Amino acid sequence: MTALLQHPSPTPTAPASDRRDHLPWRRRRVWNGFTPLQLLVISLATIAPLLIGGAIGAALLGVISTEAMNQFALAAGENPGMITFGAMFVASPIQWLTGRSQVRVRKYLGIIFFLLALSNAAMFVLETGLALALSTPFLIAGTVAFALAVPLFLTSNRRSQRAMGMKRWRTLHKLTYIVAAALLGHVILIGDIGPGAVLITLGFIGRIPVVRRWLTNRVDRRRAARPRHT
Ligand code: HEM
Repeated sequence: MTALLQHPSPTPTAPASDRRDHLPWRRRRVWNGFTPLQLLVISLATIAPLLIGGAIGAALLGVISTEAMNQFALAAGENPGMITFGAMFVASPIQWLTGRSQVRVRKYLGIIFFLLALSNAAMFVLETGLALALSTPFLIAGTVAFALAVPLFLTSNRRSQRAMGMKRWRTLHKLTYIVAAALLGHVILIGDIGPGAVLITLGFIGRIPVVRRWLTNRVDRRRAARPRHT
């Protein structure tokens, strides 16, 4: 594999799949090192928290009722929350497939997911009370997903990585898999399989060792076949 990475021989005509990497919209960093596609994902992920913030503000100002705010915030948080988590969870397999770092996008999506999960949990407690949070299997799954997201969110920074050491930090962050499974359980039990659940499933498939090897090797092969610029 290392030999392949060393670009053994210049290829006069790269296959079409390799040439795609040279398309400007895929390669060009337009703002702060982000590609247009990454900026699009970040922008879309920002919409739901802004809407929820607006609804909370409107309720505080008395423009809408608490009940309306609650319903709006739940609607704006549930499926977007699943999709945001799914996009974050599938970011690593995408990184293995493309060879392009998705770390900053993943981190941003993680923060947005936590805000949406916090909003879902808070709106549920506001509407129903804390006592019912563990009353049925689908609620237990939602509560577990939210509860485990808390330590992940609180330690998603360099200071925590330094304080804990990377080995312990990585072990803790394996909780992400349980959050993913709990979220899948939450929506499967409700009977609402949306795009977020599909993304989470793809994230799990991408982590199967043989699939992960195939994704990573694909990048190695493309890099090896790419013409060397002297
Ligand atoms: C951790 C992040 C969470 C995400 C991403 C999430 C996502 C979702 C999704 C996608 C739905 C289906 C929405 C629909 O049918 O339109 C849903 C429904 C629901 N969730 Fe969550 N949820 C989360 C946490 C929670 C928590 C902590 C609770 C409460 C303990 C909760 C309680 C509910 C309830 C009561 C419903 C409505 C079920 C129904 O319509 O029958 N969720 N959630």
